[in-house]
Amino acid sequence: MKVCVVGQGGREHAFASALARTADVVVTPGNPGIDGSTSAAPDEIDADLYVIGPEGPLADGLADRLRASGRLVFGPGADGAALESSKAWMKEVVSAAGVPTAAYAAFDGDPAGRRAAHAYLETLPPPYVVKTSGLAAGKGVLVTDELAEAHADVDAKLDGTAFGDAGRRIVIEEGMRGPEVSLFALCDGRRAVLLPTAVRDHKRIGDGDTGPNTGGMGCVSPLADVDRAACVELAALAFEPTLTELIRRGVDYRGVLYAGFMLTPDGPRLLEFNVRFGDPEAQVTLPRVENDLAQLLAGAAAGELIDEVVVSDDAMVCVVCAAEGYPAAPRTGDVIAGLERAREVPGVTVFCAGVGAGDGRETPSESLVTGGGRVLNVCGRGPDVSVARDRAYDAVRQLSWPGMTYRNDIAAAEAAAAAALRR
Ligand code: AMP
Ligand code: GLY
Repeated sequence: MKVCVVGQGGREHAFASALARTADVVVTPGNPGIDGSTSAAPDEIDADLYVIGPEGPLADGLADRLRASGRLVFGPGADGAALESSKAWMKEVVSAAGVPTAAYAAFDGDPAGRRAAHAYLETLPPPYVVKTSGLAAGKGVLVTDELAEAHADVDAKLDGTAFGDAGRRIVIEEGMRGPEVSLFALCDGRRAVLLPTAVRDHKRIGDGDTGPNTGGMGCVSPLADVDRAACVELAALAFEPTLTELIRRGVDYRGVLYAGFMLTPDGPRLLEFNVRFGDPEAQVTLPRVENDLAQLLAGAAAGELIDEVVVSDDAMVCVVCAAEGYPAAPRTGDVIAGLERAREVPGVTVFCAGVGAGDGRETPSESLVTGGGRVLNVCGRGPDVSVARDRAYDAVRQLSWPGMTYRNDIAAAEAAAAAALRR
């Protein structure tokens, strides 16, 4: 089978390497760190299956266009992708489906909408949560205990100054507290089949969950506090009811559904749906899928998903190495040193996310430069989270470029929890 992966980050690198176990893989546009990258457009590539990584092309209808020309596509059409590209619509769908989620209201930037948004904020206790309805690369959510900051954020979003058109419609939600967990299910239009393993992302830029939200600074799977049975319970709360509601609305959803939950004192609540694998969550999940991934995704795309996805019990921890200035203004063009040494650490895989090609003056092993905010995804695998974590950080310490940053506490709490459980 020939598979065309669409996208250019670490998630697509993880897709490409897991698919390459059984298929021929090309990646468009890919990046200089991913084998099989090509600048050809997806519709110029003749493949048996197209796997679309990021939300942007899905929301733009790439899956619809490819299907219209007779291709087999893993990824929802623009109608289903609106679960992510319109948080207002997502909240409407999941509320109709009876999925437990935070109370909310949606507002537009006209004078009446703006007044109503400010008035709604006044009715809520902290923490205050203000979200762009549209896509904002994981950065469109403000969570704050300061009411004044929330009011200012409402204006900055509705004005279009903070996130352009993505923010001209906003969702304000009841603020919740608790640990977060992400789950993934493959869908074939009729059924959702869970990947039975829980993943936890670390979204803030700084150690101890400080500073602004990012696309994700690292993640870990599985989790001691969300075992396989808990995964199955969470899945039953969210995936099946939502798929049923989508079918009722005429949406033929074929692709992955990514559910983010908060485990609140009042029970689990759905935070968000994404219409793609998480990045970097995919990097700790796809390598552990034991099925033939190409066959599995082709089955979902064809409406004939198999009954069970098998995921290894091994643990994986991903540490994102980011460029100086991320997330506000990452600096690019710095030569990446130590990639080969990092890859020699046992149990380690390094996926290339925001990398560019050097100018040829570097040694072959240092031919990549920083080319985006999240540059490399350093993944350690092992029999448990602490081994996986130690391996990942051993490899991180082999890497360097001017201004390289990373969190020191990825999976620290999860490793401690797993160790406590063993005692
Ligand atoms: P989202 O993209 O909607 O998942 O939001 C990004 C992050 O903001 C989540 O991972 C949470 O950490 C936080 N968040 C979102 N919604 C809420 C909420 N209602 N209450 C508290 N935190 C939230
Ligand atoms: N890591 C969070 C996301 O992919 O949305």
